Amino acid sequence: MANIVIVGTQWGDEGKGKVVDLLAEFADIVVRFQGGNNAGHTMVVNGKQFISHLIPSGILQKKICLIGNGMVIDPAVLIEELDYLKSKGIDVGQDKLMISEKAHIIMPYHKQIDHARERMKGDKKIGTTGRGIGPSYEDKATRRGIRFVDFIDPEVFSKKVKTILEEKNFYLKEYLSSEPLDFDDIIDKYSEYAERLAPFVTNISLVISRAIKEGKQILFEGAQGTHLDIDHGTYPYVTSSNTIAGNACAGAGIGPKEITDVIGIVKAYTTRVGQGPFPSELFDETGDRIQEKGVEFGATTGRRRRCGWLDTVILRNAVRLNSLSSLAITKLDVLGGQEFLKICTGYEYDGKILNDFPASLNVLSACKPIYETLPGWSEDISNIRRIEDLPQNARNYLNRIEELAETLIQIISLGPARDETIIISNPYT
Ligand code: GDP
Ligand code: IMO
Ligand code: MG
Repeated sequence: MANIVIVGTQWGDEGKGKVVDLLAEFADIVVRFQGGNNAGHTMVVNGKQFISHLIPSGILQKKICLIGNGMVIDPAVLIEELDYLKSKGIDVGQDKLMISEKAHIIMPYHKQIDHARERMKGDKKIGTTGRGIGPSYEDKATRRGIRFVDFIDPEVFSKKVKTILEEKNFYLKEYLSSEPLDFDDIIDKYSEYAERLAPFVTNISLVISRAIKEGKQILFEGAQGTHLDIDHGTYPYVTSSNTIAGNACAGAGIGPKEITDVIGIVKAYTTRVGQGPFPSELFDETGDRIQEKGVEFGATTGRRRRCGWLDTVILRNAVRLNSLSSLAITKLDVLGGQEFLKICTGYEYDGKILNDFPASLNVLSACKPIYETLPGWSEDISNIRRIEDLPQNARNYLNRIEELAETLIQIISLGPARDETIIISNPYT
């Protein structure tokens, strides 16, 4: 029996959705434990592309999908996603989707505050997704949040909104020079959403615990990436939740003893959306080529992703912070055709070599990457299904990643489709 956590090791968009969809075949339940619709997870099955923002990426494998208490949910987006899946022939009923009664709701003022603050910050902005994620987690921490259990109780919901809105409207109008929101409008819209979503709301901690007792296998789907973690990322250029594997427990309502494996998803190079330091970023033609070949545009906001070489300083950081049992390397196909490849092995700062990721943004911004250069390969590898058939230079690149990360690679992804994959060893079997 295995209960596996999937996390991003870099700055998000590593291909978590693809790997979760792939491994969901062997799991009974897929749970998301943090984040909200800032995430965009892409799956490609039988030539069709699906992007999920809130519903776990196990849904195409028709698994039970759980929305954990650690998530923040925009009810309108969740309903849109249910309708989108229905239009693609996937009818998601109460037997397939369950929402934690303790998950928090994203309210209209959260989105408005997110936008207005970014506008006000000008060139110092974080580059958030504008989905209200930060303001919603902020209200959770300051005990002004609204949980699903309160959202689906009309009386409690209305009372809470009344009190909170007074303060939010003051802040919006007087500090952010933004429009105040109307109480009745919110109640009208949100009571409709609550009615639609109420049947899905339950205690998912109990659901998971019962399933584990019955010997079922759970897959925990992380969002964002280790370096967007609120504690361990490039603060303040981070998201507002803990994205690391440890939060699978708090965000789903289980204890750490239930987790058996943690797989870190590693894009074969590095990307980042939004602002913040990125030591191995490329500003040349190579960066452009990777961006184009990898179609590196955000799955949520459509923004062009910044691209750079693989950075094993951050990879080693992710190995430690998540206690990774293995790695899944994605988008190796994108590096085909490069005459040579570089791997960042350390940083040079103030005449010294740093092997560990620094906490200070000033230090990090002044770090110069130290590179090792490896020969590339020219063959198209996307149709290869056995590791032995990969060009020797591709295998050398993978071997070097394993050495530098001191962690074995279990999965290699060579294209966006579910079957464009080499599974070296299946963590569930
Ligand atoms: P996530 O947020 O970690 O789930 O990743 P995204 O879905 O935001 O971004 C990953 C992108 O790369 C998506 O467009 C995927 O379809 C695509 N993708 C995933 N794995 C591979 C791969 O091995 N090769 C290629 N070429 N594309 C991939
Ligand atoms: P997935 O799950 C990449 C980034 C934003 C911004 C910062 C804060 O698809 O990998 P937020 O809206 O969360 O307050 O924005 O975090 N960010 C992501 N970048 N992939 C994501 O999710 C992201 N979710 C948030 O671009 O820099
Ligand atoms: Mg994404």
